[in-house]
Amino acid sequence: MDEIRKTFDEWAENGRAELMEKEHGKNVIKFLRTISFEKPFTFLDVGCGNGWVVRRIAQEKLCKKVIGIDKSKKMINQANKMKKSKKEKFVNEDIQSWKYKGKFDYIFSMESLYYVDSIDESLKAIFQMLKPGGQFFCGTDYYADNRYTAKWAKIMKIQMHLHSKKEWKEFFNRAGFKTKTKQIKDPKGNKKWKREFGTMFIIGQKPERQYSN
Ligand SMILES: C[S@@+](CC[C@H](N)C(=O)[O-])C[C@H]1O[C@@H](n2cnc3c(N)ncnc32)[C@H](O)[C@@H]1O
Repeated sequence: MDEIRKTFDEWAENGRAELMEKEHGKNVIKFLRTISFEKPFTFLDVGCGNGWVVRRIAQEKLCKKVIGIDKSKKMINQANKMKKSKKEKFVNEDIQSWKYKGKFDYIFSMESLYYVDSIDESLKAIFQMLKPGGQFFCGTDYYADNRYTAKWAKIMKIQMHLHSKKEWKEFFNRAGFKTKTKQIKDPKGNKKWKREFGTMFIIGQKPERQYSN
């Protein structure tokens, strides 16, 4: 079994899935509040963990369907046990190889994309799964500009791709997105990096029309 799957299966069993919800929750919720859902929409959470974002999004009146995908079976089992509405669906797949035919209005991911085998391939898949004009919101606390978190890979001892804000923007642009970033800081946070650097959200918009030559 691959190391990433194994690690997060363990986290699902030892209470760290709930801890992630606590640790990531404040900045994620602050960010999600900046999105104005004005039309009925569909939403995908990549690397959904125990599904806390999926459950939250399902409560939005205009949400028609929300899917959480995670390569850890135990995370998906937990998420399925905590399902609150029929709009929620969870799948145990790797984002890079998932064969999904539908398209989403929004795709979201928190602290997950730097674990994938290939960021380029995963972004290509995510881009394909978005409707024209759709948006991908990718949150990360682990990025090179945030000098306090750059050491995490040594502690985790699993594959974690470390990139700067500039490099992340380049990945997104290469995949075809119109890209911007947003820093969400937590001035009262218990950790220095939360106060000084915070969570970086890379926001990719799929153009309404694509031109090929
Ligand atoms: C740090 S956790 C974050 C979980 C959740 N987004 C949160 O904020 O609480 C990363 C999650 O990404 C999942 N993951 C890592 N690589 C993945 C991949 N290639 N495809 C799908 N899920 C993946 C892991 O299994 C894990 O549950």
